[in-house]
Amino acid sequence: MARPRSIYACSHCGAQHPRWLGRCTECGQWNTVAEEAAAAPAVEGLAAPAGVGAKPRSLDEIEAAARPRFATGIEELDRVLGGGLVPGAVVLLGGEPGVGKSTLALQLAARRERAGGPVLYVSGEESPEQVRLRADRLPETPGGIRILAETRVEALVDPWRELQPALVIVDSVQTLQTARLESAPGSVSQVRECAAALAAIAKTHHTALVLVGHVTKEGTLAGPRVLEHLVDVVLAFEGERGHPFRLLRAHKNRFGSTQEIGVFQMAATGLEQVENPSELFLAERRGGAPGSCIVPLQEGTRPLLVEVQALVAPSPYGTPRRTTLGVEDARVALLLAVLDRRSDVDLLSRDVYVNATGGVRVGEPSSDLAVALAIASSRLDCALPADAAACGEVGLGGEIRRVPHLELRAKEAARLGFTRLLAPASQCDATPPPPGLALVPVADLGEALAWLRRAGVDTAS
Ligand code: TYD
Ligand code: MG
Repeated sequence: MARPRSIYACSHCGAQHPRWLGRCTECGQWNTVAEEAAAAPAVEGLAAPAGVGAKPRSLDEIEAAARPRFATGIEELDRVLGGGLVPGAVVLLGGEPGVGKSTLALQLAARRERAGGPVLYVSGEESPEQVRLRADRLPETPGGIRILAETRVEALVDPWRELQPALVIVDSVQTLQTARLESAPGSVSQVRECAAALAAIAKTHHTALVLVGHVTKEGTLAGPRVLEHLVDVVLAFEGERGHPFRLLRAHKNRFGSTQEIGVFQMAATGLEQVENPSELFLAERRGGAPGSCIVPLQEGTRPLLVEVQALVAPSPYGTPRRTTLGVEDARVALLLAVLDRRSDVDLLSRDVYVNATGGVRVGEPSSDLAVALAIASSRLDCALPADAAACGEVGLGGEIRRVPHLELRAKEAARLGFTRLLAPASQCDATPPPPGLALVPVADLGEALAWLRRAGVDTAS
């Protein structure tokens, strides 16, 4: 059978189709399918000549090579990487345009160069002069970093071999192209092909490789989602425009946990590490205002106190608006339904706005109780006491369910001056509270609301 000369690939999810489609049947996106020339397959069939290929070995025979890691010295980054960069490993650093990927990459390059380098920074987006301008803003960037403005993958091979860099940064992977394919840079096949070629070089030369990639509004790596299986680590750099905070998360990590987060702050002199994020997130809080509740989250090994705010207002329209920022829509919808059925807080024909402050995204179910209390507090015009926080998952029956690491959360709340933490009743007996803080056991939403009415500060009058 003749091989088709072209394939049609979706730029959103990377799915391939034999013909053009207006809408990708895999991911449902419109106008994302484009024609691309099919590359000659690297392996023609599986008919390898005899004697080619390695023999299978038993697991016991294989020695676990101790992988020397290179701690980048940027602790927030090292924690997310699982201790540092591994030579030969490929890291994909994704984020929306403007979030600070190039800045982080350059700061990483500076650390590696100072520790003995050499570092090759391939800039496909910015001219060397622009990279220099950015470097001038950052605290002490070594002048030894090699900058190469290049978009052809083939042209990287020689400098790579000559320099034998310890770290190569490619900013961004969407600008690269290989002569093997005719399609435009940024297309799915180009991105995949280029990344695979670079990953192979990195493995041969034991170079740590960082690929910078842009993501779309929906939060998926544009095109390079197809890269996720090809790289060893996928990092996502998140942050809201207008907020200085930046969160670094690992979506995949072959060398460490994906639970850890790194917290940075974008300043005039580059990204600064935030060692005590809770303090920063709570800095602008107005204690004792209705519609606000603090939740101690647990991100990996580190607790994080975040303020959840809610505003409930009479709706001028037939269908009330429910708008959320930083909290999942579906979870808020669920909590509103539970509040409606399991409590006497009347939310009928009311607009509800929920916001996690500081541009943080709160994804843990353990924030349910805080979201529900913030909504109820706004509706009832009854403020939570300024020294109280809450955590617990809310079930459909209104029951408050257990949260992981309650002890660590309580400790962080106590450290920041909170004296009361509403927590799942089933967990309180087995959890010794830290000095200065009392756990308030709540078994269901009704109990939590009764506590709010009792202990809260009525601000209606
Ligand atoms: P950049 O790293 O270029 O983002 P990306 O590569 O993800 O597109 O930086 C984005 C923003 O950060 C830019 O709008 C300017 C700002 N910035 C600072 O506030 N301080 C700095 O020191 C630097 C270098 C950038
Ligand atoms: Mg950039």
